[in-house]
Amino acid sequence: MSLLDRAVVTLLPAVPKPVVRTLSSRYIAGSELEDARRVVARLNAEGKLATVDVLGEEITQAEEAQAITRAYLDVLDAIDADRLEANVSVKLTGLGLKLDEALARENLKAIAERGTFVRIDMEDSSTTDATLALYRLLTDEGYGNLGVVLQATLRRTVDDARALAGANVRLCKGIYIEPPELAYRDFDEIRDSFVRALDVLLDGGCYVGIATHDEYLVDRGIAAVRERGLAPADYELQMLLGVRPELGDRIVRDGHRLRIYVPFGRQWYEYSLRRLQENPKIAGYVAGDLGRSLFRKR
Ligand code: FDA
Repeated sequence: MSLLDRAVVTLLPAVPKPVVRTLSSRYIAGSELEDARRVVARLNAEGKLATVDVLGEEITQAEEAQAITRAYLDVLDAIDADRLEANVSVKLTGLGLKLDEALARENLKAIAERGTFVRIDMEDSSTTDATLALYRLLTDEGYGNLGVVLQATLRRTVDDARALAGANVRLCKGIYIEPPELAYRDFDEIRDSFVRALDVLLDGGCYVGIATHDEYLVDRGIAAVRERGLAPADYELQMLLGVRPELGDRIVRDGHRLRIYVPFGRQWYEYSLRRLQENPKIAGYVAGDLGRSLFRKR
């Protein structure tokens, strides 16, 4: 962690909330469903798809997991009502995974029953087995509108990719800091794992969401789908709201499907702090952003 990153991470909780809000506003649609609706409609008008994430942190009671589930049902209503080109991304811990697996299962079913595609985000490595198991259980029960996420940082990922033939899989680097026995730390090793997992997924007939802002991996991913003669409807690229939009515009101009991850919710502040503290690199991005916006004003 650089000195600048360390300073930003340490000082962040002391930064006034409105300033954090301004810093994080390009990465978060807003605090209300209406904000997400507006942002998704704008993205759709730009030829981009979306996946909507309801922000929620650290569930300690079943009622909280149920409230998040209801919020997702409201999102699905809005997607239908506005005919948005969007699906949802859920976190199983938000649906109650750490309280009671059966609770998370029932909440996930309630969301999946609406029929819109549901991506199950991947969280830290303590949840990988349970997440993949729940995905398989519901898929075997006939829920055909579920997809999972694999993280290239994890050493197990290429094996997991082999076991997911035919599935709908988002492949990303992975945001969580994991112990070295479980995860690669080296930048090139992570890239290499990403490329290997992508090849395995594509050769296994998966629909892959190639989720990265790393231009090398975007280009490598596009080359991999071209080598296999896939049509644009057979894969998609995915990016986070507000991150490297010029790269996203290029992807759309070149005729690929691009899906933007759109987080919203009243927990935006907690989410921003957590993301910044969990991944010090983002602190650098935020500081860079602040720096750029300060320079722009002069
Ligand atoms: P890398 O971190 O090398 O970034 C490449 C470049 O992109 C950077 O140099 C920088 O310019 C820019 N950049 C990246 N992130 C930025 C940011 N936050 N702000 C500003 N600039 C940034 N992780 C996970 O563990 N589970 C999950 O379910 C998901 N889901 C998910 C969905 C989608 C659609 C995306 C795009 C990402 C995720 N992630 C995730 C996060 C992912 O694991 C990873 O942490 C980030 O995408 C950053 O990795 P990159 O591949 O972009 O490379």
